[in-house]
Amino acid sequence: MSSSEDFFLEYQGLLLPRETHCAESLNFAQEFTFKDDDVVAVTYPKSGTTWMQEILPLVLNGGDLTPVHTVVNWDRVPWLEETRLAKIVDKLTSPRALVTHFPYSFMPPSFHTSKAKVINVIRNPKDVLVSSYYFHQMANFLEDPGSFDEFMDKFLEGRVLFGKWTDHVKSWRCAELGDRIFFITYEEMAQDLPTSIRRISDFLCCSLSEDVIHKIAKHCSFESMKANTMSNFSLVPKEYMDSDKSPFLRKGVTGDWKNHFSSEQLVRFTSVINKELEEENFSLPWSL
Ligand code: A3P
Repeated sequence: MSSSEDFFLEYQGLLLPRETHCAESLNFAQEFTFKDDDVVAVTYPKSGTTWMQEILPLVLNGGDLTPVHTVVNWDRVPWLEETRLAKIVDKLTSPRALVTHFPYSFMPPSFHTSKAKVINVIRNPKDVLVSSYYFHQMANFLEDPGSFDEFMDKFLEGRVLFGKWTDHVKSWRCAELGDRIFFITYEEMAQDLPTSIRRISDFLCCSLSEDVIHKIAKHCSFESMKANTMSNFSLVPKEYMDSDKSPFLRKGVTGDWKNHFSSEQLVRFTSVINKELEEENFSLPWSL
């Protein structure tokens, strides 16, 4: 019988997957030297991380498709906190793009002294929960999620990867980063990808023509990414990620929670999330 500790590493109160994190990788992240022209996409898991790993190299390279066709997503835009970064960091060319699931307080000292830019993507937590539920079923290096109801309890209590969704969102919304940070939602990207890409490229001061923006949007559509072996996680051995149980790029839609939440679960979920955010002086871009 396996226990949570077989799957999770506890790091300063945060649960991280043992498969991709270890003490050395977390030290490496803390000692990582950010450069002023770095960009880091910050997401709570299942909020659009892989999407940003596709969009950012294209925006930063003027729409050149070479990196997204030749380099796997976890090497082209690596996770700050994962073991892989130390192995490939020397191969990254500036301007570098990274991703992280860290809450703000976990960012290393060099992040704070640099001018590195942040793109914070948030997704409706109801859809995050559903996406995460399926991800736990297919990722054999994660604990079985149990029933959807049980998993909802774990999610609301923060006994899941990277802790509570509300803590993560609060930490970045309240970070005083001025014009170094840009906020966008998964829902905005799903509704109008070309406009979202234009806003991202403006934030990164990359001047892109309308043709290039549309080329990038076409390449970053759900269908196109699902067909890209460099982005769809099909290169990960089945013993780690079993796409027969659920593909990594699963549905790519907004509002799938409606197919999963009972009316009782909806009340329970929204009351917990709303209560935890009621004292905050920011509002969510959607009502729960
Ligand atoms: P679903 O499970 O709801 O389909 P992350 O990369 O942060 O782990 O998030 C994964 C979620 O983002 C999955 O959601 C995945 O399908 C979705 N996703 C990834 N690329 C996407 C795209 N191009 N368009 C829409 N959704 C995308």
